[in-house]
Amino acid sequence: MILKMNIHSSKVFFALFLAFSCLCVQLEAQLRVGFYCNSCPLAERIVREEVMKGFMNDKGIAPGLVRMHFHDCFVRGCDGSVLIDSTSSNTAEKDSPANSPSLRGFEVIDNAKTRLESQCKGVVSCADILAFAARDSVAITRGQSYNVPSGRRDGRVSSESEVLQNLPGFSFNVDQLTQNFANKNLTQEEMVTLSGAHTLGRSHCTSVGSRLYNFNGTNGPDSTLESKYAGQLQQQCPEGSTDSSLVVSMDPQTPFVTDVNYYQDLLANRGLFTSDQTLLSNSNTANEVNQNARNQFLWMRKFAAAMVKMGQIEVLTGNAGEIRANCRVIN
Ligand code: HEM
Ligand SMILES: *[C@@H]1O[C@H](CO)[C@@H](O)[C@H](O)[C@H]1NC(C)=O
Ligand SMILES: *[C@@H]1O[C@H](CO)[C@@H](O)[C@H](O)[C@H]1NC(C)=O
Repeated sequence: MILKMNIHSSKVFFALFLAFSCLCVQLEAQLRVGFYCNSCPLAERIVREEVMKGFMNDKGIAPGLVRMHFHDCFVRGCDGSVLIDSTSSNTAEKDSPANSPSLRGFEVIDNAKTRLESQCKGVVSCADILAFAARDSVAITRGQSYNVPSGRRDGRVSSESEVLQNLPGFSFNVDQLTQNFANKNLTQEEMVTLSGAHTLGRSHCTSVGSRLYNFNGTNGPDSTLESKYAGQLQQQCPEGSTDSSLVVSMDPQTPFVTDVNYYQDLLANRGLFTSDQTLLSNSNTANEVNQNARNQFLWMRKFAAAMVKMGQIEVLTGNAGEIRANCRVIN
């Protein structure tokens, strides 16, 4: 009887132990708000200061950092792999045509990292710095701020060849976009919500030209592009121009304000990319575009939540990866 009890209780103990060890693993695999509260209490503040400094000098820093976080998360998860420089033996993500020369804001991450290393050496990951900086960029452009769960670790791999197969293309249609986001466990609604980031920043003419001239063999602009806007874009992006530095604002009225103009523009057929305008071609996504265009509070809340979710894609936690000393270089 006693023996039986012992066997029984040891079984219970073992089951509990397993349960708890699973719990621990699960806790470790998750990010948490305030991860650096004890280990580096000034971490988030230092990042915010550097974003602010960068933004005062160049407003384009804010859109740049929001996009950089997206490009980090969609390729190998939010592991700071987009920050790594190429070496003689490796072409990194950064040098993919999707990232170079258009990504901007790297120096803000570097400045924050330098200060964080002198403040609390080897503690704050580059992936977290980027996630904080994207949040601060939303806030500084009058979007809704949000808490960023942290504790990401930095990846040790960055490969140019993985970029184009993971990022959505500017000529994707709504089904392709939905599939691309589903591959990252993001819903179609989150795809529509996150596309609203195109209320910020600019595009190089190289990403727009195909819609302005001889679109799909029609010898004219894309007919889904409102004609006055098409004319403006043609002036800003002359046909056959070889000037690769030409850019246009994605939300021409307020390119540095996180607002719902993006959705209002779509309703006026003034979406810049095919991947923007296509959101009106499906009844579910068109419905969300309509809602967002009319309700800024709703969209801002959904956007903050979707950024938090995007920020958890395939993160490295616990002892995985490393804390890079220099965000551009694997330790
Ligand atoms: C839905 C699919 C998406 C496509 C096809 C797409 C594509 C693009 C392209 C082609 C550009 C222009 C880059 C250039 O030439 O300078 C751009 C800019 C931008 N994208 Fe997206 N994007 C998408 C989703 C997102 C998401 C989810 C975010 C963030 C949450 C985002 C944030 C931005 C920002 C802020 C810019 C402006 C960057 C700057 O001014 O430096 N995009 N996007
Ligand atoms: C999506 O979720 C599935 C099931 O939970 C998981 O196996 C997969 O790794 C996730 N993918 C991403 C990109 O997070
Ligand atoms: C492009 O042209 C082809 C052939 O005319 C047509 O089937 C297709 O739907 C067009 N695509 C777009 C995006 O307009």
